Amino acid sequence: MSILKQKEKQRNPSEGVAEFYNATTDKFLQVYGEVIQAFRTNNVSDYLDYTINSAQLQSRQHIIDAGCGVAGPACYFATQLPELKIEACTISEVQQAKANEKIAEKNLQSRVRVTLGDYHKLPDLFPENSFDRVIFLESFGHSKNKTLAIESAYKVLKPGGKLYIKDLFVRESNNEWEQLRINHICEQINEGYAYEVGDIHQVFSAIRRQGFILNFIRPPQVDLSQFEHLSISNEFQNLFNVSKIDSWDGYVFPIDFYEILAEKPPFTSAAEMHLYYMNR
Ligand SMILES: C[S@@+](CC[C@H](N)C(=O)[O-])C[C@H]1O[C@@H](n2cnc3c(N)ncnc32)[C@H](O)[C@@H]1O
Repeated sequence: MSILKQKEKQRNPSEGVAEFYNATTDKFLQVYGEVIQAFRTNNVSDYLDYTINSAQLQSRQHIIDAGCGVAGPACYFATQLPELKIEACTISEVQQAKANEKIAEKNLQSRVRVTLGDYHKLPDLFPENSFDRVIFLESFGHSKNKTLAIESAYKVLKPGGKLYIKDLFVRESNNEWEQLRINHICEQINEGYAYEVGDIHQVFSAIRRQGFILNFIRPPQVDLSQFEHLSISNEFQNLFNVSKIDSWDGYVFPIDFYEILAEKPPFTSAAEMHLYYMNR
């Protein structure tokens, strides 16, 4: 077993997350509205439209939104794609209750269903080999066992189904002092938000080891003029007092945002493996 796997196994993969969101969801709603994502566009629906394209969401799919918040994105996707069905999953009871209210307000009960549960245990919550997509929208980074979260998504995806992750990852620098500063700020984020900012190399490796075919890893392709510049998270950081930016002098930006799309192989036999190199 790899050292990473051993370290991950020793921890509760969701430690503190439910308590964190039960206590803070009202504050999140106050600053973020129904879409609890730091990386977004000035007009948040533009970012959700971008997500529909990037995650290749389509009408008639059946998908899991792993870490759904108050189902803001799920309701938006269901409204845009008339026959899409979404299983929205959150670990927070408070979010589940608020999500149910919002779904009822929008009359989407037949298309968006909220399950209270841990995304590390998706096969206990949903049937295996059944879903077209499992999406994690700034929720994956809460996992303290990312290998397990990836395995859990793999099991419930259909052959040919896709995993989509959008999240923040530890930035890298050649400058030793800067890297120490980056690591320190990431630790503050982890403590402040019950997070575990990911290492892109480890996540990439876990996705490949699981057997996924990588479609892409890239920064979200957002036009700079539309980018929200994280001012919303600064407002939030002022509320929480975590990694607050008091001055830009000597400031080190600690993270990179990436989106990842990976496919569960559509074939089952090793003899068909070579097919994956075709038409891609
Ligand atoms: C930053 S919020 C993003 C919410 C939502 N994706 C959105 O865009 O509005 C992170 C979400 O991940 C959920 N989450 C974190 N760890 C989880 C876990 N182990 N199982 C289920 N949900 C989890 C939290 O409850 C919260 O809803």
